[in-house]
Amino acid sequence: MTKPLRVAIAGLGTVGGGVIKVLSERRAEIAARAGREIDCVAVSARDRSKVRPVAIVDIPWADDAASLAASDADVIVELVGGDDGPARALVERALSSGKHVVTANKALLAHHGASLAALAEEKNVSLRFEAAAAGGIPIVKALRESLIAYDVVAVRGILNGTCNYILTQMEASGRSFEDILIEAQRLGFAEADPTLDVGGGDTAHKLALLAALAFGIKPDLRNIPIQGISHITPQDIAFAREFGWRIKLLGVARRLGDRIDQRVQPSMVRLGTPLADVDGAFNAVVANAGEAGPFFFEGRGAGEAPTASAVLADIVDIARGNVSSVFGRPAGSLKAAAPALPQTLRAAFYLRFNVLDVPGVLAEIATHLAQSEISIESMIQRGQAVSIVMITHECTHEAVARALKVIAASDRVLGAPCMIPMEAG
Ligand SMILES: NC(=O)c1ccc[n+]([C@@H]2O[C@H](COP(=O)([O-])OP(=O)(O)OC[C@H]3O[C@@H](n4cnc5c(N)ncnc54)[C@H](OP(=O)(O)O)[C@@H]3O)[C@@H](O)[C@H]2O)c1
Repeated sequence: MTKPLRVAIAGLGTVGGGVIKVLSERRAEIAARAGREIDCVAVSARDRSKVRPVAIVDIPWADDAASLAASDADVIVELVGGDDGPARALVERALSSGKHVVTANKALLAHHGASLAALAEEKNVSLRFEAAAAGGIPIVKALRESLIAYDVVAVRGILNGTCNYILTQMEASGRSFEDILIEAQRLGFAEADPTLDVGGGDTAHKLALLAALAFGIKPDLRNIPIQGISHITPQDIAFAREFGWRIKLLGVARRLGDRIDQRVQPSMVRLGTPLADVDGAFNAVVANAGEAGPFFFEGRGAGEAPTASAVLADIVDIARGNVSSVFGRPAGSLKAAAPALPQTLRAAFYLRFNVLDVPGVLAEIATHLAQSEISIESMIQRGQAVSIVMITHECTHEAVARALKVIAASDRVLGAPCMIPMEAG
Protein backbone atom coordinates (compact mmCIF):
# COMPACT_ATOMS: atom_id res chain seq x y z
CA MET A 1 0.00 0.00 0.00
CA THR A 2 1.04 3.60 -0.64
CA LYS A 3 1.95 5.64 2.45
CA PRO A 4 -0.98 6.94 4.50
CA LEU A 5 -2.71 10.18 3.52
CA ARG A 6 -2.37 12.66 6.40
CA VAL A 7 -5.37 14.87 7.10
CA ALA A 8 -5.78 17.73 9.58
CA ILE A 9 -9.30 18.67 10.57
CA ALA A 10 -10.44 22.12 11.69
CA GLY A 11 -13.92 22.15 13.23
CA LEU A 12 -15.20 19.29 15.36
CA GLY A 13 -18.92 20.07 15.36
CA THR A 14 -21.68 18.23 13.52
CA VAL A 15 -19.66 17.66 10.34
CA GLY A 16 -16.14 17.44 11.79
CA GLY A 17 -17.27 15.11 14.56
CA GLY A 18 -18.89 12.84 11.98
CA VAL A 19 -15.75 12.77 9.84
CA ILE A 20 -13.52 11.81 12.80
CA LYS A 21 -16.00 9.09 13.76
CA VAL A 22 -15.98 7.53 10.28
CA LEU A 23 -12.20 7.77 10.03
CA SER A 24 -11.78 5.84 13.28
CA GLU A 25 -14.75 3.44 13.20
CA ARG A 26 -14.49 2.52 9.50
CA ARG A 27 -10.74 2.81 9.12
CA ALA A 28 -10.18 -0.49 7.28
CA GLU A 29 -13.12 -0.09 4.86
CA ILE A 30 -12.11 3.48 4.00
CA ALA A 31 -8.46 2.44 3.52
CA ALA A 32 -9.58 -0.34 1.17
CA ARG A 33 -11.57 2.17 -0.90
CA ALA A 34 -8.79 4.78 -0.85
CA GLY A 35 -5.96 2.32 -1.53
CA ARG A 36 -4.11 3.71 1.50
CA GLU A 37 -4.68 4.46 5.18
CA ILE A 38 -6.12 7.85 6.10
CA ASP A 39 -4.47 9.24 9.25
CA CYS A 40 -5.83 12.21 11.15
CA VAL A 41 -2.65 14.00 12.25
CA ALA A 42 -4.06 17.19 13.83
CA VAL A 43 -7.33 18.78 14.87
CA SER A 44 -8.50 22.23 15.87
CA ALA A 45 -11.69 23.72 17.27
CA ARG A 46 -12.58 26.72 19.39
CA ASP A 47 -12.77 25.14 22.83
CA ARG A 48 -10.26 22.47 23.76
CA SER A 49 -12.02 21.61 27.02
CA LYS A 50 -15.35 20.79 25.37
CA VAL A 51 -16.51 17.20 25.81
CA ARG A 52 -16.66 15.65 22.33
CA PRO A 53 -18.76 12.68 21.25
CA VAL A 54 -15.64 11.37 19.49
CA ALA A 55 -12.23 10.48 20.92
CA ILE A 56 -9.62 13.07 19.95
CA VAL A 57 -7.25 12.87 22.93
CA ASP A 58 -4.57 11.05 20.94
CA ILE A 59 -4.66 13.53 18.07
CA PRO A 60 -2.37 16.61 18.26
CA TRP A 61 -4.44 19.77 18.92
CA ALA A 62 -3.91 23.26 17.45
CA ASP A 63 -5.48 26.26 19.20
CA ASP A 64 -5.21 28.34 16.05
CA ALA A 65 -7.04 26.63 13.17
CA ALA A 66 -5.04 28.52 10.55
CA SER A 67 -1.80 27.07 11.96
CA LEU A 68 -2.86 23.65 10.59
CA ALA A 69 -1.74 24.95 7.21
CA ALA A 70 1.83 24.64 8.50
CA SER A 71 1.34 21.08 9.83
CA ASP A 72 2.69 18.01 8.05
CA ALA A 73 -0.81 17.13 6.76
CA ASP A 74 -1.34 16.46 3.04
CA VAL A 75 -4.98 17.56 3.22
CA ILE A 76 -6.62 20.27 5.31
CA VAL A 77 -10.28 19.61 6.07
CA GLU A 78 -12.02 22.88 6.88
CA LEU A 79 -15.27 22.33 8.81
CA VAL A 80 -15.42 25.55 10.83
CA GLY A 81 -17.76 27.58 8.60
CA GLY A 82 -18.17 31.26 7.77
CA ASP A 83 -17.20 33.23 4.69
CA ASP A 84 -14.26 34.93 6.39
CA GLY A 85 -12.30 34.66 9.63
CA PRO A 86 -10.48 31.45 10.57
CA ALA A 87 -12.04 29.36 7.80
CA ARG A 88 -10.88 31.67 5.03
CA ALA A 89 -7.46 32.19 6.62
CA LEU A 90 -6.95 28.43 6.92
CA VAL A 91 -8.08 27.59 3.38
CA GLU A 92 -5.98 30.36 1.79
CA ARG A 93 -2.90 29.43 3.78
CA ALA A 94 -3.33 25.73 3.14
CA LEU A 95 -3.69 26.17 -0.63
CA SER A 96 -0.80 28.65 -0.71
CA SER A 97 1.43 26.10 1.01
CA GLY A 98 0.52 23.44 -1.53
CA LYS A 99 -1.93 21.41 0.54
CA HIS A 100 -5.15 19.93 -0.74
CA VAL A 101 -8.30 21.29 0.89
CA VAL A 102 -11.66 19.66 1.56
CA THR A 103 -14.41 21.90 2.89
CA ALA A 104 -18.16 21.86 3.52
CA ASN A 105 -18.24 25.65 3.60
CA LYS A 106 -20.73 26.98 1.03
CA ALA A 107 -20.56 30.55 2.39
CA LEU A 108 -16.80 30.72 1.88
CA LEU A 109 -16.95 29.32 -1.66
CA ALA A 110 -19.99 31.36 -2.72
CA HIS A 111 -18.07 34.51 -1.75
CA HIS A 112 -14.50 33.57 -2.67
CA GLY A 113 -14.80 30.44 -4.85
CA ALA A 114 -13.31 31.95 -8.01
CA SER A 115 -10.14 33.28 -6.34
CA LEU A 116 -9.69 30.11 -4.25
CA ALA A 117 -10.07 27.97 -7.38
CA ALA A 118 -7.38 30.05 -9.09
CA LEU A 119 -5.09 29.63 -6.09
CA ALA A 120 -5.66 25.85 -5.97
CA GLU A 121 -4.87 25.62 -9.68
CA GLU A 122 -1.74 27.72 -9.38
CA LYS A 123 -0.49 25.41 -6.62
CA ASN A 124 -1.66 22.27 -8.46
CA VAL A 125 -3.75 21.03 -5.52
CA SER A 126 -7.38 19.99 -5.10
CA LEU A 127 -10.09 22.07 -3.48
CA ARG A 128 -13.09 19.82 -2.92
CA PHE A 129 -16.52 20.75 -1.56
CA GLU A 130 -19.03 17.92 -2.05
CA ALA A 131 -20.70 18.53 1.34
CA ALA A 132 -21.16 22.25 0.64
CA ALA A 133 -24.10 21.87 -1.75
CA ALA A 134 -27.00 19.58 -0.83
CA GLY A 135 -25.02 17.77 1.90
CA GLY A 136 -24.89 14.04 1.25
CA ILE A 137 -26.20 14.20 -2.34
CA PRO A 138 -23.26 13.67 -4.73
CA ILE A 139 -24.36 16.52 -6.99
CA VAL A 140 -21.03 18.34 -7.04
CA LYS A 141 -19.18 15.35 -8.46
CA ALA A 142 -22.07 14.68 -10.85
CA LEU A 143 -21.93 18.20 -12.29
CA ARG A 144 -18.13 18.43 -12.21
CA GLU A 145 -17.31 15.04 -13.70
CA SER A 146 -20.35 13.18 -14.99
CA LEU A 147 -22.84 15.46 -16.76
CA ILE A 148 -20.25 16.95 -19.08
CA ALA A 149 -20.97 15.67 -22.59
CA TYR A 150 -23.72 18.21 -23.27
CA ASP A 151 -24.39 21.73 -22.07
CA VAL A 152 -26.43 21.76 -18.87
CA VAL A 153 -29.56 23.80 -19.52
CA ALA A 154 -30.90 24.22 -16.00
CA VAL A 155 -30.35 23.23 -12.39
CA ARG A 156 -33.26 23.45 -9.96
CA GLY A 157 -32.98 22.47 -6.35
CA ILE A 158 -34.59 22.22 -2.97
CA LEU A 159 -31.37 23.09 -1.20
CA ASN A 160 -32.40 24.01 2.33
CA GLY A 161 -33.83 21.31 4.58
CA THR A 162 -35.10 23.80 7.17
CA CYS A 163 -37.30 25.59 4.62
CA ASN A 164 -38.56 22.35 3.13
CA TYR A 165 -39.37 21.02 6.60
CA ILE A 166 -41.30 24.19 7.47
CA LEU A 167 -43.28 24.22 4.19
CA THR A 168 -44.06 20.50 4.55
CA GLN A 169 -45.28 20.96 8.12
CA MET A 170 -47.33 24.05 7.20
CA GLU A 171 -49.09 21.97 4.55
CA ALA A 172 -49.66 18.99 6.85
CA SER A 173 -50.97 21.02 9.80
CA GLY A 174 -52.41 24.19 8.26
CA ARG A 175 -50.41 26.17 10.83
CA SER A 176 -48.57 29.44 10.21
CA PHE A 177 -44.93 29.91 9.22
CA GLU A 178 -44.16 31.50 12.62
CA ASP A 179 -45.70 28.59 14.55
CA ILE A 180 -43.86 25.92 12.63
CA LEU A 181 -40.57 27.82 12.79
CA ILE A 182 -40.73 27.88 16.61
CA GLU A 183 -41.49 24.16 16.62
CA ALA A 184 -38.64 23.49 14.17
CA GLN A 185 -36.23 25.38 16.43
CA ARG A 186 -37.37 23.29 19.42
CA LEU A 187 -36.87 20.06 17.47
CA GLY A 188 -33.44 21.09 16.17
CA PHE A 189 -34.53 21.46 12.52
CA ALA A 190 -33.90 25.23 12.57
CA GLU A 191 -31.09 27.38 14.00
CA ALA A 192 -31.69 29.81 16.88
CA ASP A 193 -31.06 32.53 14.27
CA PRO A 194 -32.89 31.13 11.23
CA THR A 195 -32.32 34.18 8.97
CA LEU A 196 -29.83 32.56 6.58
CA ASP A 197 -32.10 29.54 6.11
CA VAL A 198 -35.63 30.99 5.91
CA GLY A 199 -34.41 34.16 4.18
CA GLY A 200 -33.03 32.11 1.28
CA GLY A 201 -29.35 33.10 1.76
CA ASP A 202 -28.18 29.54 2.42
CA THR A 203 -29.96 28.31 -0.71
CA ALA A 204 -28.26 31.11 -2.68
CA HIS A 205 -24.81 30.03 -1.44
CA LYS A 206 -25.42 26.50 -2.69
CA LEU A 207 -27.02 27.66 -5.94
CA ALA A 208 -23.98 29.85 -6.70
CA LEU A 209 -21.80 26.71 -6.47
CA LEU A 210 -24.09 24.52 -8.56
CA ALA A 211 -24.38 27.25 -11.21
CA ALA A 212 -20.59 27.59 -11.34
CA LEU A 213 -20.25 23.84 -11.92
CA ALA A 214 -23.11 23.64 -14.41
CA PHE A 215 -22.34 26.70 -16.52
CA GLY A 216 -18.63 27.44 -16.04
CA ILE A 217 -19.32 30.78 -14.37
CA LYS A 218 -17.76 32.36 -11.29
CA PRO A 219 -19.88 31.95 -8.16
CA ASP A 220 -21.36 35.40 -7.65
CA LEU A 221 -24.08 36.12 -5.12
CA ARG A 222 -24.67 39.60 -6.58
CA ASN A 223 -26.36 37.91 -9.55
CA ILE A 224 -28.86 36.00 -7.44
CA PRO A 225 -32.09 37.74 -6.38
CA ILE A 226 -33.15 36.11 -3.13
CA GLN A 227 -36.59 35.74 -1.58
CA GLY A 228 -37.30 33.59 1.47
CA ILE A 229 -40.43 31.83 2.70
CA SER A 230 -41.62 33.94 5.65
CA HIS A 231 -44.46 35.57 3.65
CA ILE A 232 -45.98 32.23 2.58
CA THR A 233 -49.28 31.51 4.33
CA PRO A 234 -51.07 28.20 4.94
CA GLN A 235 -53.77 29.59 2.61
CA ASP A 236 -51.24 29.93 -0.24
CA ILE A 237 -50.23 26.32 0.32
CA ALA A 238 -53.86 25.15 0.34
CA PHE A 239 -54.74 27.18 -2.79
CA ALA A 240 -51.67 25.81 -4.55
CA ARG A 241 -52.84 22.28 -3.86
CA GLU A 242 -56.31 23.10 -5.18
CA PHE A 243 -54.73 24.17 -8.46
CA GLY A 244 -52.56 20.99 -8.50
CA TRP A 245 -49.28 22.53 -7.32
CA ARG A 246 -47.04 22.65 -4.23
CA ILE A 247 -44.91 25.51 -2.93
CA LYS A 248 -41.18 24.82 -2.54
CA LEU A 249 -38.25 27.16 -1.93
CA LEU A 250 -36.19 26.59 -5.08
CA GLY A 251 -32.78 27.69 -6.17
CA VAL A 252 -32.96 27.88 -9.96
CA ALA A 253 -30.14 28.51 -12.43
CA ARG A 254 -30.87 28.24 -16.14
CA ARG A 255 -29.32 29.17 -19.43
CA LEU A 256 -31.22 31.81 -21.39
CA GLY A 257 -29.29 32.30 -24.63
CA ASP A 258 -25.78 33.34 -23.63
CA ARG A 259 -27.00 34.59 -20.26
CA ILE A 260 -27.70 32.80 -16.98
CA ASP A 261 -30.79 33.40 -14.87
CA GLN A 262 -30.18 32.58 -11.20
CA ARG A 263 -32.75 33.10 -8.48
CA VAL A 264 -33.90 31.86 -5.10
CA GLN A 265 -37.61 32.11 -4.43
CA PRO A 266 -40.70 30.20 -3.37
CA SER A 267 -41.95 28.48 -6.52
CA MET A 268 -44.93 26.38 -7.55
CA VAL A 269 -43.98 22.87 -8.57
CA ARG A 270 -46.60 20.67 -10.21
CA LEU A 271 -47.95 17.76 -8.17
CA GLY A 272 -46.64 14.48 -9.55
CA THR A 273 -43.24 15.88 -10.57
CA PRO A 274 -40.22 14.66 -8.56
CA LEU A 275 -39.50 17.95 -6.79
CA ALA A 276 -43.10 18.19 -5.55
CA ASP A 277 -42.71 14.89 -3.71
CA VAL A 278 -39.65 15.96 -1.70
CA ASP A 279 -40.84 16.19 1.88
CA GLY A 280 -39.45 17.22 5.25
CA ALA A 281 -35.79 18.07 5.65
CA PHE A 282 -34.74 16.35 2.42
CA ASN A 283 -32.92 18.11 -0.39
CA ALA A 284 -33.23 17.42 -4.11
CA VAL A 285 -31.77 18.64 -7.38
CA VAL A 286 -32.98 18.30 -10.96
CA ALA A 287 -30.12 18.83 -13.39
CA ASN A 288 -31.26 19.14 -16.98
CA ALA A 289 -28.23 18.02 -18.97
CA GLY A 290 -29.35 19.05 -22.45
CA GLU A 291 -29.58 16.14 -24.90
CA ALA A 292 -28.84 13.72 -22.06
CA GLY A 293 -32.07 14.78 -20.40
CA PRO A 294 -33.06 15.56 -16.83
CA PHE A 295 -31.52 13.80 -13.83
CA PHE A 296 -33.08 13.82 -10.39
CA PHE A 297 -31.08 13.54 -7.17
CA GLU A 298 -32.64 13.34 -3.72
CA GLY A 299 -31.24 12.77 -0.25
CA ARG A 300 -30.29 14.24 3.08
CA GLY A 301 -28.81 17.70 2.76
CA ALA A 302 -27.59 18.03 6.33
CA GLY A 303 -26.70 16.12 9.47
CA GLU A 304 -23.68 14.25 10.73
CA ALA A 305 -23.72 11.10 8.58
CA PRO A 306 -24.75 12.58 5.19
CA THR A 307 -22.18 15.39 5.41
CA ALA A 308 -19.44 13.06 6.72
CA SER A 309 -20.23 10.80 3.77
CA ALA A 310 -19.65 13.67 1.32
CA VAL A 311 -16.46 14.86 3.05
CA LEU A 312 -15.06 11.32 3.09
CA ALA A 313 -15.79 10.95 -0.63
CA ASP A 314 -13.64 14.04 -1.27
CA ILE A 315 -10.84 12.81 0.98
CA VAL A 316 -10.82 9.38 -0.68
CA ASP A 317 -10.77 10.99 -4.12
CA ILE A 318 -7.65 12.91 -3.13
CA ALA A 319 -6.12 9.77 -1.59
CA ARG A 320 -6.58 8.01 -4.95
CA GLY A 321 -4.78 10.85 -6.68
CA ASN A 322 -7.81 12.09 -8.58
CA VAL A 323 -7.17 15.70 -9.45
CA SER A 324 -9.77 17.74 -11.25
CA SER A 325 -10.32 21.46 -11.45
CA VAL A 326 -12.39 22.98 -8.68
CA PHE A 327 -15.44 23.86 -10.79
CA GLY A 328 -14.80 21.29 -13.53
CA ARG A 329 -13.02 23.74 -15.84
CA PRO A 330 -9.74 25.67 -15.68
CA ALA A 331 -10.20 28.49 -13.14
CA GLY A 332 -9.08 31.07 -15.71
CA SER A 333 -11.92 30.05 -18.04
CA LEU A 334 -14.70 30.73 -15.50
CA LYS A 335 -16.75 33.61 -16.84
CA ALA A 336 -18.51 36.39 -15.00
CA ALA A 337 -22.17 35.41 -15.43
CA ALA A 338 -24.25 37.84 -17.45
CA PRO A 339 -27.67 37.95 -15.73
CA ALA A 340 -30.74 37.33 -17.89
CA LEU A 341 -32.40 40.34 -19.49
CA PRO A 342 -35.71 41.22 -17.73
CA GLN A 343 -37.76 40.84 -20.93
CA THR A 344 -36.59 37.22 -21.28
CA LEU A 345 -37.75 36.20 -17.79
CA ARG A 346 -41.14 34.65 -18.36
CA ALA A 347 -43.38 32.39 -16.27
CA ALA A 348 -46.99 31.82 -15.35
CA PHE A 349 -47.69 33.17 -11.87
CA TYR A 350 -49.79 32.38 -8.83
CA LEU A 351 -51.14 35.69 -7.49
CA ARG A 352 -52.97 36.17 -4.19
CA PHE A 353 -54.69 39.40 -3.15
CA ASN A 354 -56.36 39.95 0.21
CA VAL A 355 -59.11 42.47 -0.45
CA LEU A 356 -62.05 44.24 1.16
CA ASP A 357 -65.34 42.49 0.43
CA VAL A 358 -66.75 45.32 -1.68
CA PRO A 359 -68.11 45.41 -5.23
CA GLY A 360 -65.72 46.23 -8.06
CA VAL A 361 -62.48 45.13 -6.45
CA LEU A 362 -62.06 42.12 -8.73
CA ALA A 363 -62.69 44.30 -11.78
CA GLU A 364 -60.09 46.79 -10.53
CA ILE A 365 -57.44 44.08 -10.16
CA ALA A 366 -58.30 42.56 -13.54
CA THR A 367 -58.02 45.99 -15.19
CA HIS A 368 -54.55 46.63 -13.80
CA LEU A 369 -53.40 43.17 -14.85
CA ALA A 370 -54.79 43.69 -18.34
CA GLN A 371 -53.00 47.03 -18.60
CA SER A 372 -49.74 45.15 -18.06
CA GLU A 373 -50.85 42.58 -20.68
CA ILE A 374 -51.29 39.83 -18.10
CA SER A 375 -54.11 37.41 -18.80
CA ILE A 376 -55.69 35.12 -16.25
CA GLU A 377 -55.89 31.37 -16.74
CA SER A 378 -57.93 30.47 -13.65
CA MET A 379 -59.23 32.09 -10.49
CA ILE A 380 -60.60 31.31 -7.01
CA GLN A 381 -62.30 33.83 -4.72
CA ARG A 382 -63.29 32.94 -1.21
CA GLY A 383 -63.04 33.51 2.52
CA GLN A 384 -64.34 35.94 5.10
CA ALA A 385 -61.29 38.11 4.85
CA VAL A 386 -61.63 37.75 1.09
CA SER A 387 -58.75 36.28 -0.86
CA ILE A 388 -58.66 36.47 -4.65
CA VAL A 389 -56.28 33.94 -6.11
CA MET A 390 -55.31 33.73 -9.76
CA ILE A 391 -53.06 31.74 -12.03
CA THR A 392 -51.89 33.84 -14.96
CA HIS A 393 -50.84 32.82 -18.43
CA GLU A 394 -47.13 33.15 -19.11
CA CYS A 395 -45.89 36.73 -18.86
CA THR A 396 -42.72 38.55 -17.85
CA HIS A 397 -41.66 38.90 -14.20
CA GLU A 398 -41.35 42.62 -14.94
CA ALA A 399 -45.00 42.95 -16.02
CA VAL A 400 -46.27 41.17 -12.89
CA ALA A 401 -44.11 43.26 -10.58
CA ARG A 402 -45.32 46.46 -12.29
CA ALA A 403 -49.01 45.49 -12.05
CA LEU A 404 -48.72 44.37 -8.43
CA LYS A 405 -47.13 47.65 -7.42
CA VAL A 406 -50.18 49.53 -8.72
CA ILE A 407 -52.66 47.03 -7.27
CA ALA A 408 -50.96 47.11 -3.84
CA ALA A 409 -51.56 50.87 -3.71
CA SER A 410 -55.35 50.41 -3.89
CA ASP A 411 -57.15 51.12 -0.60
CA ARG A 412 -59.32 48.05 -1.27
CA VAL A 413 -56.33 45.71 -1.31
CA LEU A 414 -55.04 44.65 2.12
CA GLY A 415 -51.31 44.07 2.59
CA ALA A 416 -48.80 43.11 -0.05
CA PRO A 417 -50.07 40.81 -2.82
CA CYS A 418 -48.27 37.48 -3.07
CA MET A 419 -46.68 36.39 -6.39
CA ILE A 420 -45.14 32.99 -6.91
CA PRO A 421 -43.81 31.77 -10.26
CA MET A 422 -44.96 28.38 -11.57
CA GLU A 423 -41.88 26.28 -12.34
CA ALA A 424 -42.09 24.50 -15.66
CA GLY A 425 -41.30 20.77 -15.64
N1 LIG B 1 -24.38 20.76 9.83
C1 LIG B 1 -24.66 20.35 8.61
O1 LIG B 1 -25.52 19.49 8.42
C2 LIG B 1 -23.93 20.92 7.43
C3 LIG B 1 -24.29 20.52 6.16
C4 LIG B 1 -23.57 20.97 5.05
C5 LIG B 1 -22.54 21.86 5.24
N2 LIG B 1 -22.22 22.28 6.51
C6 LIG B 1 -21.09 23.21 6.65
O2 LIG B 1 -20.08 22.57 7.41
C7 LIG B 1 -19.37 23.54 8.18
C8 LIG B 1 -19.42 23.11 9.63
O3 LIG B 1 -20.75 23.03 10.05
P1 LIG B 1 -21.19 22.32 11.42
O4 LIG B 1 -22.66 22.17 11.35
O5 LIG B 1 -20.34 21.15 11.67
O6 LIG B 1 -20.85 23.48 12.46
P2 LIG B 1 -20.79 23.35 14.05
O7 LIG B 1 -21.44 22.13 14.53
O8 LIG B 1 -21.19 24.68 14.58
O9 LIG B 1 -19.20 23.18 14.30
C9 LIG B 1 -18.31 24.20 14.03
C10 LIG B 1 -16.95 23.79 14.57
O10 LIG B 1 -16.02 24.82 14.28
C11 LIG B 1 -15.32 25.15 15.47
N3 LIG B 1 -14.94 26.56 15.46
C12 LIG B 1 -15.75 27.64 15.51
N4 LIG B 1 -15.02 28.77 15.50
C13 LIG B 1 -13.72 28.37 15.43
C14 LIG B 1 -12.49 29.06 15.42
N5 LIG B 1 -12.44 30.40 15.47
N6 LIG B 1 -11.35 28.33 15.35
C15 LIG B 1 -11.39 26.98 15.32
N7 LIG B 1 -12.54 26.27 15.34
C16 LIG B 1 -13.67 26.97 15.41
C17 LIG B 1 -16.24 24.85 16.60
O11 LIG B 1 -15.48 24.64 17.78
P3 LIG B 1 -16.13 24.20 19.18
O12 LIG B 1 -16.69 22.82 18.94
O13 LIG B 1 -14.97 24.16 20.10
O14 LIG B 1 -17.17 25.21 19.51
C18 LIG B 1 -16.94 23.58 16.08
O15 LIG B 1 -16.18 22.45 16.41
C19 LIG B 1 -20.06 24.88 7.88
O16 LIG B 1 -19.37 25.51 6.84
C20 LIG B 1 -21.44 24.47 7.41
O17 LIG B 1 -22.04 25.41 6.56
C21 LIG B 1 -22.88 21.82 7.60
